[in-house]
Amino acid sequence: MEAVVRAIETRRERSRQILEEFLRIPSISTDPDHRGDVVRAAEFMAETLREAGLPTVEIHDTPRHPVVYAEWRGRPDAPTILVYGHYDVQPIGDPSEWTSPPFEPRIEEGKIWARGATDDKGQLLTHVLAVEAHLAASRSLPVNVKFLIEGEEEIGSENLEAFVRAHREKLACDALVISDTAMYAPGVPSLCTGLRGIAYFELTLRGPTTDLHSGAFGGAVDNPAMAIAHLLSSLKDRATGRVLIEGFYDDVVEPPEEEKSSWANLPAPEERYLQMTGAPVLYGERGRGLLERIWSRPSLDVNGVWGGFTGEGSMTVLPARASAKISMRLVPNQTPADIAAKTRAHLDRHLPETMVLERFLELHEGRPWTSSLDHPAVQAAFRAIERGFGRTPVPTREGGSIPIVSMLTEALGIPAVMMGLGQHDEGAHGPNEHFDLGSFHAGILSSAHYLHEMQGALTGRGSG
Ligand code: BES
Ligand code: MN
Ligand code: MN
Repeated sequence: MEAVVRAIETRRERSRQILEEFLRIPSISTDPDHRGDVVRAAEFMAETLREAGLPTVEIHDTPRHPVVYAEWRGRPDAPTILVYGHYDVQPIGDPSEWTSPPFEPRIEEGKIWARGATDDKGQLLTHVLAVEAHLAASRSLPVNVKFLIEGEEEIGSENLEAFVRAHREKLACDALVISDTAMYAPGVPSLCTGLRGIAYFELTLRGPTTDLHSGAFGGAVDNPAMAIAHLLSSLKDRATGRVLIEGFYDDVVEPPEEEKSSWANLPAPEERYLQMTGAPVLYGERGRGLLERIWSRPSLDVNGVWGGFTGEGSMTVLPARASAKISMRLVPNQTPADIAAKTRAHLDRHLPETMVLERFLELHEGRPWTSSLDHPAVQAAFRAIERGFGRTPVPTREGGSIPIVSMLTEALGIPAVMMGLGQHDEGAHGPNEHFDLGSFHAGILSSAHYLHEMQGALTGRGSG
């Protein structure tokens, strides 16, 4: 491994330049105006994989954004690792909140600042650069490696499931590796053993068939904006923070005692969450600790609510419609389909007779995922991160969702290893996104060590 580590050290400057170049491409997957940039990011990824020395690199078109696939299969008897990541990014939001232009990467305080830096371009590149270092040092890899890189993660990975089902053989592997989550705290390397699932809905209530004069009709008919406020408040109890959808908690299982007690040993998170969020106090399900609430309890949030007149000044209107977007984060063994049915039943039951549920859309769904700590592929990751960061990682979970993780692990029958390198206050999805360059470097080292650690880790388990 010394030669590989040396190759990583000597390439440090070049690695950072590749990341900068990648970050200059505004690959905003949700925005049709950026379609050309999304394609450019896929091409950049393919070119970077080729330069890293992967002999097979392919760009597959899908109904929306391309999937990049690459492989090195020079060791028929060794295990095969599948690296997943996404080259698409979120929109920038309000440009005036950025202290420098989001697609002109800047280095300051040992961090690189740009949209996509931590989610997920910086984290994804670590694995490509680790493979490159191995190939540069020995023209070989300790294990077989495949890359599956998509451009639709931030919009729900709509076309990836079909791609995976159509290319099962191609994607056959022994373990999935992903860096697209956060560390517990700066300087605390982590291995994530669980992701929450997601169920995301949009609904529209209609009262009258058109907007009305609120003087001529106020008092005559019900108001959809008021009605949706009541309907939304029926979803959750203020005092206990518990979701009131009938049967919502029926399938929730508690995490293993061993994991819960290891969370209790982590540095207390309350102060950091107050500081990261700026909220006056923390709030959530009564009787549950903060980490437990984010990592192993389901949650429900209103993502947006609108209707009626919201412009400057006033307009005396009694609106015809009001809408809301709501999302729930799910934990084992809740399923998005069951939660969708229960949510729909709750809305139907609580809908006042004065309103019509004009629209109910299911926008995203993803099953939760958890892994055991003692799978050899996970144990190998503990050792690799320890070498890369010089400190033993702590097991964590993540409140966020990556729907393809449960999809891939179930479809391919493999374990997943989540080597999160980000931080929760690095501005993912918000303004001034950044990624710590120390974590970038330690991540490249960890990934390189992981390939090495996996060489003999699955002996007797077969390979793909
Ligand atoms: N990298 C994130 C997942 C994540 C979220 C990791 C929070 C760590 C903390 C991923 O890119 C993401 O944003 N996922 C979406 C999925 C949704 C669009 C279906 C999410 O969690 O909202
Ligand atoms: Mn991500
Ligand atoms: Mn994201």
